[in-house]
Amino acid sequence: MAKIKTTFICQNCGANSPKWIGKCPSCGEWNSYVEEIQTKVTADKYSTKGETNSKPQSLSSIQQQQEERIVTKNNEFNRVIGGGIVLGSLSLIGGDPGIGKSTLLLQIALSLNKNILYISGEESLNQIKLRAERIQQQNDKALFLSETNIERILHHVDNSETELVIIDSIQTVYTERVESSPGSVTQVRESTMMLLKYAKEHNIPMILIGHINKDGNIAGPKVLEHIVDTVLQFEGDKSYMYRILRSLKNRFGSTHELGIFEMQGSGLKEIENPSELLISQQKDSYSGTAIAATIDGTRPFMIEIQALVSTAAYGTPQRSATGYDTRRLNMLLAVLEKRIGFRLNMKDVFLNIAGGIRVEDPAIDLSIVCAILSSDQDLEIDAKTCFAGEVGLTGEIRAVNRIDQRIKEAEKLGFERIFISEYNKEDKSLHSRIKIVRVKKVTEVFRNLFA
Ligand code: TYD
Ligand code: MG
Repeated sequence: MAKIKTTFICQNCGANSPKWIGKCPSCGEWNSYVEEIQTKVTADKYSTKGETNSKPQSLSSIQQQQEERIVTKNNEFNRVIGGGIVLGSLSLIGGDPGIGKSTLLLQIALSLNKNILYISGEESLNQIKLRAERIQQQNDKALFLSETNIERILHHVDNSETELVIIDSIQTVYTERVESSPGSVTQVRESTMMLLKYAKEHNIPMILIGHINKDGNIAGPKVLEHIVDTVLQFEGDKSYMYRILRSLKNRFGSTHELGIFEMQGSGLKEIENPSELLISQQKDSYSGTAIAATIDGTRPFMIEIQALVSTAAYGTPQRSATGYDTRRLNMLLAVLEKRIGFRLNMKDVFLNIAGGIRVEDPAIDLSIVCAILSSDQDLEIDAKTCFAGEVGLTGEIRAVNRIDQRIKEAEKLGFERIFISEYNKEDKSLHSRIKIVRVKKVTEVFRNLFA
């Protein structure tokens, strides 16, 4: 009998080694190597001989076809995935445990008038039924199966009229073709490849749920993200009820879209007007609060920034930010120190973005700087004022994209004044009623606000 060959594979990045190693030389992760049985790759895969009926084509001879999409009833989900689920596509949705991945996909499955096959390797059918009762939806066209074997799953898909397959989760399924245990790099990769092949050949879309590891990346090999067409991330601070769906990769749409949901007792509810929720309804103004006109993807919304600056109780001042990059916060604090002369180096600075939402738009810089200054000086900013500008290292206010959309949103929500960069060219034909204050430097904003 031939000897079984094994190899050690890093469960974080997929690198392999003939011997066990403590620290992966490729990704730097400790203790991530696991012994797996080597699987043979058939050599004829790249054979140059043989017939083929594929033929290179010029662009003009390619017949263009619109991708067919399954448009769900969930508008937030549709927008993030690029307008609907493309037939034959393979999507991956990742997120922390308990964030609501299964809930979201169950809601989508039950709201569609299509033959859906929902495979759960994580939960029993009983648990799924309980969840369905919570979200109070019923649909007899959606079928559920508790199964982890890919061959058997595909057999079921083959013998039914299935139009969409949901797999919860990719880490629990396995194929008999490789001998590693479910969740290992080889299994995850091989199973995904099989599903991809099936999806493309039969034009049946599939959505996979994926776990994420402690760094927030989707667990399993990085190659998983390369294999699938779409990678969505479901995130949110668990202590808040908001959940954000982002697309990290999309072969059929833009990756800048953002879907906002609220986790309620009866499942996830779409939030169509985030601004109304993300700015507090307080009538009075408090020091340390500033409103930013931000854009994520194509949708503008207003978001409240809160800062608290206080004298450090202990030697080393603390800097902490929720929903914002701490390094960028430190950079803005350095700008305030060096360019405006605020002495913040002995102060604690806490920053919080409303709703636990993580914002990557640089245009919120200006509102962050203003919230910090307002808290430090204990001077409040008028509640009808908002900001949209990026702050550069010299303390200059830089232009931001889509300023017209931001101004319009601010106006719609009843703001009376918006601070923007001097260098931003807004559409003069807008005739906005809102007062636009153009500024070049942080010092100018400060004088304007608190003089
Ligand atoms: P779940 O979809 O199981 O998360 P995931 O699949 O990402 O692990 O959601 C789990 C959490 O959501 C759980 O803590 C309970 C909560 N939840 C609600 O608050 N309301 C609901 O209607 C449902 C179904 C779940
Ligand atoms: Mg789940």
